[in-house]
Amino acid sequence: MPSNDPHSFADLEQGRIEHIEFTFDIDFDARSIRGIAVYTIDRPVEGSFFLDLRDLKIAGVHSPAGEVDWTIDKEDAVLGQRLHLENLDAQSEFAIYFETTPDASALQWLTPELTAGGTHPYLFSQCQALHARSVFPCQDTPSVRFTYTADVIVPAPLTAVMSAERVDVCDGKELIASQGESNPTDAASPDGRSAMTDSTVCVFDMPQAIPSYLFALAVGNLAAKDLGPRSRIYAEPEVVDEAAHEFAETERMIAEAEGLFGPYEWDRFDMLLMPPSFPYGGMENPRLTFLTPTLIVGDRSMVNVVVHELAHSWTGNLVTNATWEDFWLNEGWTVYAERRILEILDDKNYAQMKGALRRKSMFEDMKLFGMDSDPTRLNYSQKGIDPDEVFSTIPYEKGAAFIISLEEAVGREVFDPFIKKYIETFRFQSLDTRGFIDFVKKELPAAADAVDIDQWLFEPGFPQSAPALESTLLDAVDAAVSAFTEGTLPAADAVGQWKPEQIELFLKNLPSRIGIDDCAALEELFGLKTSRNNNLVVAFLSKALASGYEDALDSAERILSTVGRMLYLKPLYRALVEAEWCKHKARDFYDRHGASYHPIAKGGIERILKEAGL
Ligand code: BES
Ligand code: ZN
Repeated sequence: MPSNDPHSFADLEQGRIEHIEFTFDIDFDARSIRGIAVYTIDRPVEGSFFLDLRDLKIAGVHSPAGEVDWTIDKEDAVLGQRLHLENLDAQSEFAIYFETTPDASALQWLTPELTAGGTHPYLFSQCQALHARSVFPCQDTPSVRFTYTADVIVPAPLTAVMSAERVDVCDGKELIASQGESNPTDAASPDGRSAMTDSTVCVFDMPQAIPSYLFALAVGNLAAKDLGPRSRIYAEPEVVDEAAHEFAETERMIAEAEGLFGPYEWDRFDMLLMPPSFPYGGMENPRLTFLTPTLIVGDRSMVNVVVHELAHSWTGNLVTNATWEDFWLNEGWTVYAERRILEILDDKNYAQMKGALRRKSMFEDMKLFGMDSDPTRLNYSQKGIDPDEVFSTIPYEKGAAFIISLEEAVGREVFDPFIKKYIETFRFQSLDTRGFIDFVKKELPAAADAVDIDQWLFEPGFPQSAPALESTLLDAVDAAVSAFTEGTLPAADAVGQWKPEQIELFLKNLPSRIGIDDCAALEELFGLKTSRNNNLVVAFLSKALASGYEDALDSAERILSTVGRMLYLKPLYRALVEAEWCKHKARDFYDRHGASYHPIAKGGIERILKEAGL
């Protein structure tokens, strides 16, 4: 019986990976990681064992009983390949020797020009959703959890960080000496170990069990600054101070999140500020959240992304979606939690306005897919579908709206204890949509009666009955939009008081095309030529490109050539292809700058270009 995860070849009846001991040797010249992984399975494996792979070279498989025969016997465009270990002969341990290839979809190998410092190369992984299988053979389904250790050999002076505790960093020379090698400087050492003489070995231990998509590794020239008793920011030395300033409030966020969910179970909440090509805003790698450098705007106005990734420490990392068909359970709950924490850190008025902005993006995504299409459902069969292709804000915002409607049915006095019980019941486990429904029916029967759960979870579109988002901050925006349509620009002193999100919403709510003169005036009014807040700049440029404002091209190219966050790349490429006058520029820009994008971002943009016939 294969697992019921449509995105994995694993057969969980054969056994489950429980622990992996990794050795990784990072080779920047070959753009390859040579790896050894020693697996412990939860039972003796009788006969076959299947693992997921993609673009990995297998050099051999051994168990304590000797060499293990293997084949790659299935291949699929979405799933990758099936590695079939043919007869484990009741062993519960085996080692696989492998090498990643330069096209590994989880890995981006950056030349020094693509880093903040400009002098050292950089490597990072992004495993969610189906990319861990391009780094090491695994049961690449979120329903399998394992602990791990890793020895990571990197060229000096670089260091490695992982979604794990770094227990030691040692000089390659010392390591060889301590292992009793005769002459550590002997360049001709036949076992290749001599390469370690100018290497650093970073040793990691991950004692909390994680699913494969939360495996993470980054290698670069890294510095670190403590932010609080259990959090630290890692970044290239050139940007670490700015990052420490932006994220100074992290400990407060952890404390508030604990109030909502219960104890933080991962010991530390460290963060890594990524190079600009990181394709997401943030990624909740346990003990080491990855963050886009576009969050560094100087005024802490984008730290909600930190709150979001932190909230995943409970919703996602402790209670994990069983398959990617249940992705709304990770993201819907996390957006809900993010909003609750922002209510405390800022205020409800502000949190609701942010919610309104994001609900607008959700409707835009629904329109892109079609209001009746499957991706507008929270749960539907994704057999044969690549989760990256249907990634959108829908599971986030529709999912959060569903959780809020459960909350509103019973009130917070009842709902808050339910949240804690939910986490406590399913911590370190995976859960699917049906399991969630059963839990709500049992623990929150009044909400199950009051809310049309089946409509929320299984029907397309957005329920009319959804909780409304009200905020006085929205009123000022609505008034300014109406005035604009009657020919009056907002007054500079009024917008001087606006929050960045109000500016963003104002820009998004303008008519789909506006006058060229108005484009120039708005760009000036909001200081968009020099703003560091790309949420605002991209909202403006999308409108300006649709309106035929030629100056927008240079500004768009500046972003497309320096930023790899998909939240900015995709709307800009879409705006380019949708306006006839600048359509050809989309291909031009991609040919010029696409080489610096992450493989996942490349995939997304190539789809946009292809659909536009470019
Ligand atoms: N886990 C996601 C990022 C992700 C999702 C990566 C699916 C790969 C596949 C992360 O927690 C996330 O949602 N990031 C958002 C942050 C935002 C909603 C505050 C992002 O990247 O924009
Ligand atoms: Zn998330």
